[in-house]
Amino acid sequence: MWLLSLALVLLLQLSAAQNVSYDHRSLILNGKRRILLSGSVHYPRATPEMWPGIIQKAKEGGLDVIETYVFWDRHEPSPGQYYFEGRYDLVKFVKLVQQAGLLVNLRIGPYVCAEWNLGGFPIWLRDIPHIVFRTDNEPFKKYMQSFLTKIVNMMKEENLFASQGGPIILAQVENEYGNVDSHYGEAGVRYINWAAEMAQAQNTGVPWIMCAQSKVPEYIIDTCNGMYCDGWNPTLYKKPTMWTESYTGWFTYYGWPLPHRPVEDIAFAVARFFERGGSFHNYYMYFGGTNFGRTSGGPYVASSYDYDAPLDEYGMQHLPKWGHLKDLHETLKLGEEVILSSEGQHSELGPNQEAHVYSYGNGCVAFLANVDSMNDTVVEFRNVSYSLPAWSVSIVLDCKTVAFNSAKVKSQSAVVSMNPSKSSLSWTSFDEPVGISGSSFKAKQLLEQMETTKDTSDYLWYTTRYATGTGSTWLSIESMRDVVHIFVNGQFQSSWHTSKSVLYNSVEAPIKLAPGSNTIALLSATVGLQNFGAFIETWSAGLSGSLILKGLPGGDQNLSKQEWTYQVGLKGEDLKLFTVEGSRSVNWSAVSTKKPLTWYMTEFDAPPGDDPVALDLASMGKGQAWVNGQSIGRYWPAYKAADSVCPESCDYRGSYDQNKCLTGCGQSSQRWYHVPRSWMKPRGNLLVLFEETGGDPSSIDFVTRSTNVICARVYESHPASVKLWCPGEKQVISQIRFASLGNPEGSCGSFKEGSCHTNDLSNTVEKACVGQRSCSLAPDFTTSACPGVREKFLAVEALCSS
Ligand code: GAL
Repeated sequence: MWLLSLALVLLLQLSAAQNVSYDHRSLILNGKRRILLSGSVHYPRATPEMWPGIIQKAKEGGLDVIETYVFWDRHEPSPGQYYFEGRYDLVKFVKLVQQAGLLVNLRIGPYVCAEWNLGGFPIWLRDIPHIVFRTDNEPFKKYMQSFLTKIVNMMKEENLFASQGGPIILAQVENEYGNVDSHYGEAGVRYINWAAEMAQAQNTGVPWIMCAQSKVPEYIIDTCNGMYCDGWNPTLYKKPTMWTESYTGWFTYYGWPLPHRPVEDIAFAVARFFERGGSFHNYYMYFGGTNFGRTSGGPYVASSYDYDAPLDEYGMQHLPKWGHLKDLHETLKLGEEVILSSEGQHSELGPNQEAHVYSYGNGCVAFLANVDSMNDTVVEFRNVSYSLPAWSVSIVLDCKTVAFNSAKVKSQSAVVSMNPSKSSLSWTSFDEPVGISGSSFKAKQLLEQMETTKDTSDYLWYTTRYATGTGSTWLSIESMRDVVHIFVNGQFQSSWHTSKSVLYNSVEAPIKLAPGSNTIALLSATVGLQNFGAFIETWSAGLSGSLILKGLPGGDQNLSKQEWTYQVGLKGEDLKLFTVEGSRSVNWSAVSTKKPLTWYMTEFDAPPGDDPVALDLASMGKGQAWVNGQSIGRYWPAYKAADSVCPESCDYRGSYDQNKCLTGCGQSSQRWYHVPRSWMKPRGNLLVLFEETGGDPSSIDFVTRSTNVICARVYESHPASVKLWCPGEKQVISQIRFASLGNPEGSCGSFKEGSCHTNDLSNTVEKACVGQRSCSLAPDFTTSACPGVREKFLAVEALCSS
């Protein structure tokens, strides 16, 4: 009986409607102003099996809210036909967030940008007669309204809005319209007002927001997106200051090095935001994940969407980022009531130093900021000296105790390893025919690619004949995008691609013609459809302009207006060679390496254990890969990151932009490709690759990802206890490899004693930690003298094993 009443109480609690309102200070949930810490997690960029772990780690990291976009193109693959299964089970995702006790910001858009194919628009939307996207255009508005209403109704039916007792406290319509509105003139103004009214009329009972868009009606909350949003204010005083996209890093392009944003700078930006009156903050991304299949946007967005986020692509804690931000969140929450109950009093503490003090009742919280991007300094605040590292904010609770400094990372860091499993896979291959091999059609012109393929495949064959060939000549293509592979009489000639900064380019390709008739076959490939910019429905792909054979004795020959035969997609795609059934439909033969247009197949057993798995494709060129029929994305390790834009070291101080702290110059932008555990069985899995340019499958290996080394540092100027934990659920601390108080040198994984090593703490740390999943201990800085050392600190390095 008591069980029944407990269940009833729980049910009542779950379904209790939550009132969401706001004033100039914050969102107000059930009458209470709230500091809300939010993080972006896009459900299709992980698997449903991964969702609970990610949500749990977001909660442990101190988040209150999960933000996600809604991906129209996948939910409505053809007009009026909906799909909400598997990775697209939005209701399930929202309910999991709710079960974890977190809230949701549902950014419906339905334009999302998001490095997602065509910014989330379904490809069929381009074909609606007279349509113009994102403006006062009747056909567009009709389809947009119908999808947005569909999503709102789905959420309502499941009681998922806060007003119904659900977790959704906010919803977003449109996305960063302010970036493009100047292109749409008056029609754009009418559109945004229509979008606002249409959204408001849905009666969700929760506020609607619009990000990076200031021309909004008074009932919509306009919010900030950017690397920094302190000092930014919404259009009206009565609205709270909200930051919807605070970048934890940046996304990866093929052909470009990896972006990193130092956690000291993120923490600085976030602390400054709250210091200067912000109250809702969302990390874009908190977990980035993977662009599986052909979902990644364009141009050239990689399959990995790791984003340098606090949870990495595999859903593991990215340290010290995850931990340092957790420390920040805990501190902000301690000050929540005081901060939100008052207005910050601003005072200057120096030329580049300032304080914002919040006092309420007996409480007091001070933010002390040093915005000098070079120099550390000491400031006087209420007759006490505080040392402030350059480009940092200290949060001082009770206006006395420094609880957090953004530049002093006390949280543990870690060394993550990709462990080869030395799989020795045995491969067979199948040659994709060059040119037309299946259903085809003809046209006397070069066709636009998206119009022709409807994005059912990355690939489109353009083939034609030329009758009087002679030796070496040039094929000149006036404009191409994104990739083209050139074949003459079945022989590979060359491959060309444009880049993230030059989207459309011309090609002058040397080719060899045979005497008599020649077949010219051009395989054009897209690498994710354009996801940003005004009028994206008009951007083209494939070959266009004139296509000319040059250097012929009889003069140049323009081939663009002669008869071309087209084939959408590949024979192997048609046969579904990547599925178990499809793979049986052809005869696979002994493996050929370094050969363009080759399908590769192998069978493999899942690497033992629970650690996340990736496929190391360093030896391959460009293509797509499937595990048991599931596409793990496009791969392109042959496209190496531009050289010379990577700094030797990354200084967190000073304004960040995505080109500041790049790594991996000269290397593959992406070498490892996540294979979710849930897509594999223990034995007998099918791995199929389609290789476009030529690779060597014999070096392909599965790797597992694990965190085995953890480290922590604590500084004398900002003392705290050292906390160590093993990130893996089944791991414990098995060994203390290093513990020194003084001025140790090196970094995590390579610490060594410095000139001053006052105490050997290894024994103490061992006693407290070995055999435990986590431990903490407080260093005593008073026992050590290190004359001449500017700042003493304790460094500990430990091993985690399962
Ligand atoms: C923003 C956009 C996001 C995402 C981000 C870059 O402008 O709103 O959807 O594309 O840029 O990652």
